[in-house]
Parts: sequence; C-alpha cells; structure tokens
Amino acid sequence: MNETKIGFIGGGNMARSLIGGLVADGVAPQRLWVAEPDAGRRAELAAQFGIHITGGNSDLVQAVDAVVLAVKPQQMKDVCGEIAATVQARRPLLISIAAGIRLATLQQWLGGEPALVRTMPNTPALVQCGATALYATPQVNNTQREVAEGIMRAVGLTLWLADEDQMDAVTALSGSGPAYFFLVMEAMQQAGVQLGLTAESARLLTLQTAFGAAKMALESREEAATLRRQVTSPGGTTERAIGILQQGELEALFARALSGARDRSRELATLLGNS
Ligand SMILES: NC(=O)c1ccc[n+]([C@@H]2O[C@H](COP(=O)([O-])OP(=O)(O)OC[C@H]3O[C@@H](n4cnc5c(N)ncnc54)[C@H](OP(=O)(O)O)[C@@H]3O)[C@@H](O)[C@H]2O)c1
Repeated sequence: MNETKIGFIGGGNMARSLIGGLVADGVAPQRLWVAEPDAGRRAELAAQFGIHITGGNSDLVQAVDAVVLAVKPQQMKDVCGEIAATVQARRPLLISIAAGIRLATLQQWLGGEPALVRTMPNTPALVQCGATALYATPQVNNTQREVAEGIMRAVGLTLWLADEDQMDAVTALSGSGPAYFFLVMEAMQQAGVQLGLTAESARLLTLQTAFGAAKMALESREEAATLRRQVTSPGGTTERAIGILQQGELEALFARALSGARDRSRELATLLGNS
C-alpha cells in the first residue's frame, strides 16, 4: 500500500471524500491521480489536495497501480469501453464503487480477466463515517486486497463478503440504511413537536440521541437487544413506548422493507447489466 499509485476515474463527491480521507491518513498526494472531464472540478481537486490530474481516463490507467471507478453507474459502460485496451495491457487493480453493477457485467465491458474488487459504500462516507462491503474476483491477490481495503477504510468501516450475491443484502441494509435512520429521526422530531417541544429542541434532542445510541452500541460489547433491555425498566416510560412500537410490528415492517430493497437491488443490477 505504501508505494501504490492510486487513480480515480470520476472526480465527484465520492472520489473527493476518498481522496480527502487518504490524504488525512498520510498518503502522499504525489501517489494520487484523478481523471475528470470537467476542467473546473479538476483544477479544484488539484488546488485542494495537490494531486495529479488528467482529462484522459486511459492516461490515468497508464500511470497508476490501482484504479477506483468512481463514476455514476450509468456512465460506467462507456468508461470501461474507453479504458479496456489499456487495462488489458497493464492489468492494474480495478475497484468499482458503483452501486448495482455486478462483477460479471464489469468483466464483460472490460474484456479479459481483470483483477476486480466490487465495493458498496454508503453516503456517510462523505463525512468519513461510511460502511463499505467489498468482494474480490479470484484474480485479486492479497496485496491488492489490502490496497482496496486501505482505500475504502479512509472513509469508514470495511468488511469483506464471502459471496457477491450478498451485495444486494448490503445494499438493502447499509446502502439504503442511512435513509431509514433519517426517516426515524423525522418521525421522532415530529412526535416531539406534537408533545409540545419547539422544532429546534426536538431536532437537537433527536440527533444527539441517535448519535449517542450509535456510539454506545459501537463502543459496547453487548448486543443492541441487551442495551435496549438495560434502558427499559419494568413499568417505565421506555417499556410503554417499545410495547407500542412492537404492537405495530416494527420488526416485521423492517424485514419487509429490507427484502423489498434487496429485490429492487437485484432488478436494478439486471437492468444495468443489460444496458
Ligand atoms: N455518493 C454516495 O453517497 C455514494 C454511495 C454509494 C455508492 N456511490 C457510488 O459512487 C459512484 C460515484 O458517486 P458520486 O456521488 O461521487 O457521483 P458524482 O458526484 O456524479 O461523481 C461522478 C463524477 O464522474 C464524472 N464523469 C462522468 N463521466 C465521466 C467519464 N466518462 N470519465 C471520467 N469521469 C466522468 C462526473 O462528471 P459530470 O458531473 O460532468 O458527469 C462526476 O464528476 C457512483 O457509481 C455511486 O453509485 C456513491
């Protein structure tokens, strides 16, 4: 990882976060490249981080050891077509962060048998608190796995999957998951206002409670269910509220919501693969 040259195709939000995270982790800007069609965005990235910039995707593939494919899923087919010949000649490590594009699809667009890692990050990566699942093709060696993991760790937690099919479940859980928590926050804020709090008080108390609960759960060795029981005294206020949520079948609702998201992820991956 120490000497690996890393390039990003697409200099948008995710690339900027990853580059920011890598530079903050002590990666020398001279080891980082970005290829981005928008000249203004290129100049901004160069000024902010002091990294190499280029307008040419194939030039970038020529220059680096690991390429992060950081364009939108709909842009990926064109990008793969453009770099395919250079990838086959140089055989760099390729890391896709695009939601919903299967490795078989990328392999088909790139040709040959490239060393490919598919990842599924989530939006909190933009504030270096992401959760990213990774899956690698057999062509990826251990050093390359460490490189891919090191890049994604710059924006949060990483974990490897045993099976690519699990990416659809990851998409349903952590990929779409931030929105579920935002919805719960909205609902709690509204309920707080209905109980007579000001909107600002309800907002601040909700957000700090969400942050505090997540921090406690992350720092504790106990399961979430145990932590919940520990703050639920018999006959108390929490017990009354949890009882009402469970009567409304909250767990079953989450199970249905996540399997709906998982099914949609499969459908979208098939659509993208056939595009
Ligand atoms: N943002 C998230 O929270 C998040 C979470 C999980 C996964 N992802 C994945 O991360 C990827 C990037 O997302 P993002 O939010 O960073 O998108 P973004 O901000 O739109 O960044 C994509 C960048 O790629 C550029 N681009 C377009 N066509 C290109 C080409 N042919 N060659 C090189 N660069 C090209 C775009 O330029 P133009 O704007 O001019 O088109 C844009 O600057 C997506 O595939 C997404 O699925 C993002």
